[in-house]
Amino acid sequence: MDQGQTLRQHLDGFATDPDRRLIADAVAAFADAAIEITELTCGGALAGITGEGQTLNGDGDIQKDLDLQADRIIRRALAGVSVAALASEEANEIEIRDPASAISIAFDPLDGSSNINTNMSVGTIFSIVRTPLHARAAFTQPGTTQLAAGFVVYGPQTSLVLTLGDGVDIFTLDRKTRAFRQIRSQVKIPPNTAEFAINASNRRHWDPPILAYIDDCIAGADGVLQTNFNMRWIGSLVAEAYRILTRGGIFLYPADARDGYREGRLRLLYEAHPMAFIMEQAGGGATTGNLRILDLAANTLHQRVPLIMGSIESVQRLERMHMSPDIKFERNAPLFATRGLFRN
Ligand code: AHG
Ligand code: MN
Ligand code: MN
Repeated sequence: MDQGQTLRQHLDGFATDPDRRLIADAVAAFADAAIEITELTCGGALAGITGEGQTLNGDGDIQKDLDLQADRIIRRALAGVSVAALASEEANEIEIRDPASAISIAFDPLDGSSNINTNMSVGTIFSIVRTPLHARAAFTQPGTTQLAAGFVVYGPQTSLVLTLGDGVDIFTLDRKTRAFRQIRSQVKIPPNTAEFAINASNRRHWDPPILAYIDDCIAGADGVLQTNFNMRWIGSLVAEAYRILTRGGIFLYPADARDGYREGRLRLLYEAHPMAFIMEQAGGGATTGNLRILDLAANTLHQRVPLIMGSIESVQRLERMHMSPDIKFERNAPLFATRGLFRN
């Protein structure tokens, strides 16, 4: 296969004005950081990575050693880029750097931390937004103000998924040349799917529309969806998103009844917003079940949000199931057999 253009060439082609140059430099900085983080994920214990940690972050998660190292690597890589405000999953406060800069960045330095010491894929997620009049307000804007978003998967390949607002492209790290090379352009998510991803161990905590939808998936070809579904759950949002971009699918981390999970587990600013931007740019969708993720604005830095994303037909079905209060979600009621409203 002919080797695609490098990420640098792609970014240089995009950088046609000073603001775009700034965005390009920020993306290049994340790519440089990703190359350094890859050394740590590939080395694992040999690189001194244990996946253990003692301190808690602002969201109450234990900060694993790689969470903190990735955070430091990214901040160092961004030192040469003019950024107004910086928000990280691993920091309790926003860092104000250059208030006059046109861009601000929210990032999850290491996504899927519970997978670090199990040799499973982990990642980095970033969201680049336009800085408003006051840099401190950078992260109180709706997701529609994003200028770019991306994520890196540290898996068998280190791959970077990127949207600059005009479709989604994927780059894979060429470890010989230490350059990211384009492997896919203008990625489109299949509108339909037969694959769902949810942490099924939380089933007893789910709200009725989620219960009904997942039970419909499990009912297979004899159920209302008339399809035999497959299930995946990797525990790394980036890996689930990469799979959906590759072959379609529906990912759900819904609100559930557990303490602290009434708004789900994923964070709006540095997980749901960037993922939603990428999903929509690739023809998919992203919703809370009731609201479009990109229309939401955060009130707090680590605000959680229910996240359902992926193939657009499945996202829309789930939205309808959330918005039809008159449909009773009794289990196996005759109504479900003829729930023509959702047949599509
Ligand atoms: P992070 O490691 O940044 O906290 O993200 C982990 C998230 C997400 O990557 C994944 O989909 C989800 O947590 C897994 O949650 P459960 O462990 O509750 O399944
Ligand atoms: Mn995460
Ligand atoms: Mn994280």
